[in-house]
Amino acid sequence: MNENAGNPAKAATGATKGKADRRKEMTMDAVIQIRELKKIYDLGRTQVVALGGIHLDVAKNEYLAIMGPSGSGKSTLMNILGCLDTPTEGKYFLAGEPVDEMEDDELARIRNREIGFIFQSFNLLPRTTILRNVELPLVYSGLSRRERMERARVALESVGLQDRLDHQSNELSGGQRQRVAIARALVNQPSILLADEPTGNLDSHTGEEILGLFDELHRQGHTLLVVTHEDDVAARARRCIRLRDGRIESDEATAAAVHSAP
Ligand SMILES: Nc1ncnc2c1ncn2[C@@H]1O[C@H](COP(=O)(O)OP(=O)(O)OP(=O)(O)O)[C@@H](O)[C@H]1O
Ligand SMILES: [Mg+2]
Repeated sequence: MNENAGNPAKAATGATKGKADRRKEMTMDAVIQIRELKKIYDLGRTQVVALGGIHLDVAKNEYLAIMGPSGSGKSTLMNILGCLDTPTEGKYFLAGEPVDEMEDDELARIRNREIGFIFQSFNLLPRTTILRNVELPLVYSGLSRRERMERARVALESVGLQDRLDHQSNELSGGQRQRVAIARALVNQPSILLADEPTGNLDSHTGEEILGLFDELHRQGHTLLVVTHEDDVAARARRCIRLRDGRIESDEATAAAVHSAP
């Protein structure tokens, strides 16, 4: 987690004046801020506007669902938030830092520290133990192999897979694979978890297990952004935005937020 995000005292020291000024404009606890974000695919004769000007603030420890019809820009938005893709126009501040102004190594560092990404298709290495799959994101962390293995073991334990460490990923059920993917996303202890249709490939029982895990992560203080087509998945979040044609059509508190209000 970035303890200094939004801390004006810390921001004023060390940071350039421009950066400090920008941070003053921001909400104290915003971990994600995007402004007029556009993604336009140029296909020669035609242009596809995947995102047509998105404005979004996400505060620390929010639990946000992202819905919208197929092709409305959900994955495009998630990939940009996860720094896996870059926008055509607009600004993205991650933990207070403008992503487009970062050098590659700085971007890799902040991304590793702040973000865990869970893909719909799991993206695990087959014929490789799940312990190794979860250890892989730590390879550039500077930790020793022993420390990396220990962290990977703890992450797998947190998703209930301590008895399966030596299994290969292709020997597991869909729900277990998704749990490995979550352990891998968590192993760097990121503050933000981005999940693109995490329950899309799961039966309702295993989907429920994953949602229970998300509830727990939310309680622990993580910020969660979850893309889903399913109303009951979105209902677990506290806030839901709907995209249509690359724009935010609605942004509302969910019933869960109303019930959990003090
Ligand atoms: N590499 C690409 N080249 C051209 N167009 C693209 C590319 N990737 C996405 N698009 C287009 O951008 C739009 C948004 O796509 P995106 O994948 O973000 O939708 P989505 O909301 O995630 O849809 P789904 O619910 O089906 O996953 C679509 O019209 C899609 O065809
Ligand atoms: Mg998608």
